[in-house]
Amino acid sequence: MDLYGGHAVISIGHTHPRYVESLTAQLNKIGFYSNSIEIPIQQRLAQELGEVSGKEDYSLFLCNSGAEANENALKLASFYTGRKKVLAFSKSFHGRTSLAVAATDNPSILAPINQTDNVVFLPFNDDEALLNAFADHGEEICAVIIEGIQGVGGIREASIPFLKLIRSLCDQYGSIFIADSVQCGYGRTGDFYSHDYAEVEADIYSMAKGMGNGFPIGGISIAPKFKASFGMLGTTFGGNHLACAAALAVLEVIKQDSLLKNAAQIGSYLIAELEKFDRIGEVRGRGLMIGIDLPEELSTVKRDLLLKNRIFTGEAKPNVIRILPALNITKEIADRFLTALDERLKA
Ligand SMILES: Cc1ncc(COP(=O)(O)O)c(C=O)c1O
Repeated sequence: MDLYGGHAVISIGHTHPRYVESLTAQLNKIGFYSNSIEIPIQQRLAQELGEVSGKEDYSLFLCNSGAEANENALKLASFYTGRKKVLAFSKSFHGRTSLAVAATDNPSILAPINQTDNVVFLPFNDDEALLNAFADHGEEICAVIIEGIQGVGGIREASIPFLKLIRSLCDQYGSIFIADSVQCGYGRTGDFYSHDYAEVEADIYSMAKGMGNGFPIGGISIAPKFKASFGMLGTTFGGNHLACAAALAVLEVIKQDSLLKNAAQIGSYLIAELEKFDRIGEVRGRGLMIGIDLPEELSTVKRDLLLKNRIFTGEAKPNVIRILPALNITKEIADRFLTALDERLKA
């Protein structure tokens, strides 16, 4: 039983019939052609995404991964503002390519060639540090990039006041608010983008993981104030026919099966039940993005869940079990997990 989905990628379940059908039918027509021609399925995807995410006036640029989505988001912010400085936060993860990794708070994955003074790290959820950074360099700040819920960082939510403050400071200083929704987005928390919870609109949303249910695809959803110009962003494989067929099938299933509602309901149920276990240190997250923080002496629980109960979960350092199941998980499956966890904690 897979409650991790390869880092939040499997959004509608492995081998969902609608997904298999959509990809097979597309492959029988055409699998790939470059963006040098118009690709109507991209337009359908942009339209559907706008509708399901509630951002109908946003434009879509398609690429192949989360890092690439953030790379393009930061590049677009810099084109738009003419500035270079980026604010990122402690424990953030934005990818492993040049600018994305430079904005990631993990020096062990930063090669010397990726090092840059353009990225400034601030403590997460610290209003005062953010206010000071804008007061000191506001006119130089190109973008603020933040996950709505940090995934790799251990399932930590950005607070509502913090997200609102980012919005107002970006408005005040003409900086770009980038909502990294690669892991926490695409319906996982019950909102389409987890930042929606704070009732703020970002200028750019980056996405990938759950978007193609395993087929590599990423993208950025771009506010109307950005005007596209020919050749500003580009890619060979991004938005190819097969990737779009995968992404369209995912959105169709999300819509038809009301998966945002399911993610909110089953997620709340799981979190409420998990909070009843007295041996768990802390339960964090929202919807189907859940971190179960265990004390050191229970560090074998994750492995035992796999080897003894055949339940696959993820982890975040040092001792957090990360649950990122498909958005169509049922209550029965949630209960199976809770029973198994109870068994392991007792053992
Ligand atoms: C929040 C976040 N942003 C970006 C990325 C990078 O995505 P990818 O591995 O597809 O490049 C990840 C991957 O874990 C992520 O969790």
